[in-house]
Amino acid sequence: MPHASGAWARRPFLGPMITSLISMKGGTAKTTTAVNLAAYLALGGLNVLLVDLDPQNFATLCLGLDVQTLIPLQNPRF
Ligand SMILES: Nc1ncnc2c1ncn2[C@@H]1O[C@H](COP(=O)(O)OP(=O)(O)O)[C@@H](O)[C@H]1O
Ligand SMILES: [Mg+2]
Repeated sequence: MPHASGAWARRPFLGPMITSLISMKGGTAKTTTAVNLAAYLALGGLNVLLVDLDPQNFATLCLGLDVQTLIPLQNPRF
């Protein structure tokens, strides 16, 4: 994999890319991988949206955000 500050930042824009990490089994590093992959790509200069739909909020906590201060969606559509 290229270094975060290198090839990812210089690559031609190919459009948005959606990456999902899926496993029915818990504790298999889905969240850990998602958070670190998002951080890696962001460090490489990409605009990254990390969506945390898990009620445990672990990805949100990993980013240092306080879930108590976030505004919940009133009518989530997904
Ligand atoms: N490569 C790794 N080495 C050691 N522990 C890990 C590794 N990846 C994840 N973990 C730990 O395993 C546990 C479960 O990881 P997590 O990403 O929350 O799993 P999931 O989202 O699939 O339920 C966490 O405590 C996490 O810190
Ligand atoms: Mg998880």
